[in-house]
Amino acid sequence: MKTLLVTGGCGFIGVNFIRYLLDESDFAGRIVNADCLTYAANPLSLSDVAIRHGDRYLFVKADISDREAMGALMDEQQVDAVCHLAAESHVDRSIVRPQQFIQTNIVGAYTLLELVRERRDRIGRFHHVSTDEVFGSLGPTGLFTEDTPYRPNSPYSASKAASDHLVRAYHATYGLPVTLSNCSNNYGPYQFPEKLVPLMILNAMEGRSLPVYGDGRHVRDWLYVRDHCEALWLVLRKGQEGRTYNIGGRNEMENLRVVEMICDLVDEVCAPLPSGPRRALITFVKDRPGHDRRYAIDTTRIETELGWRPRESFASGLRKTVEWYRTRNDWVEQVRTGAYRQWIKEHYG
Ligand code: NAD
Ligand code: TYD
Repeated sequence: MKTLLVTGGCGFIGVNFIRYLLDESDFAGRIVNADCLTYAANPLSLSDVAIRHGDRYLFVKADISDREAMGALMDEQQVDAVCHLAAESHVDRSIVRPQQFIQTNIVGAYTLLELVRERRDRIGRFHHVSTDEVFGSLGPTGLFTEDTPYRPNSPYSASKAASDHLVRAYHATYGLPVTLSNCSNNYGPYQFPEKLVPLMILNAMEGRSLPVYGDGRHVRDWLYVRDHCEALWLVLRKGQEGRTYNIGGRNEMENLRVVEMICDLVDEVCAPLPSGPRRALITFVKDRPGHDRRYAIDTTRIETELGWRPRESFASGLRKTVEWYRTRNDWVEQVRTGAYRQWIKEHYG
């Protein structure tokens, strides 16, 4: 693996993954990061990486659905492996406006698969990053395994499910050297504050209301993003071709409990609010349509086959995350003020 193409490398997991590969892992090659810079991307999150690893890191603004541009990039850069993260990723947005989810998550994935198919002699691995949401909703018991039938309930999860099927089909039909992973909810540094954890941290810090959907009893399995990155690198290197790996934190929690933990942590590290403890900011709001009740992941395969285990507990990972948002005012301000959008405009038109 000399030149790894990472798609969507300016998003939450992409930024953490590229940082992990270049700063912490034994990866010795180059990374080409192709991202079309949607609202969810912040290329400034990697500006220090570009300076420190100038010879091993290249950013290219490109849309994965642009077959010509992506093909030329793969050839010019002699890409020999792909880790595909680029996606529209926010369920609430997919409910309001699904079109871009179909375009990027399905057509984009198809475009990359075709390009890899044309370059089979050089490209030895296509890893597709997916979500546990493709399996749909669980009742009070049970876990998603790699063999659980797909039953997606939102336009987001349906579009990811479609791309997973395409990846699997390209392996079965054309023998493409693919691997897949389906991961639970990630949290950690650099996450855009539209998702539950960063939204609640920032609102709690500023004494704003904390909107919990429905009764707040929906269950997610939470994984610290660095643990996901470590798993992705393992699967890329050692995963069996054509195989799927479920990734999760064995850490199921109701949304309300997550928000309460955030309130308590923010109370501990930030100045008190005149109105009292931050749990009082919790407000129950209208539920999300089609809201999946419970996700939970069986991680036996990746643990036994590849020896992966998450390092962070939810308590330790959440503490790190709160601390990151508390001390990285510069990043939060860029996102809030749209300063990074201005930077994108100046650099890329
Ligand atoms: P994100 O929304 O933070 O980032 C997505 C990135 O993809 C952005 O930088 C965006 O600009 C880029 N992108 C979008 N459309 C593109 C296109 N057409 N061409 C090129 N780049 C494009 O998402 P994330 O949370 O980092 O998720 C990354 C991947 O991991 C996604 O495939 C998602 O489905 C999957 N995943 C996420 C989670 C999670 O909890 N965040 C959990 C499991 C799986
Ligand atoms: P989210 O972070 O959007 O991830 P996903 O929908 O992919 O799981 O939401 C996590 C959970 O938190 C989900 O059950 C919806 C809920 N939620 C709220 O209760 N309030 C909010 O403001 C948000 C953004 C999410």
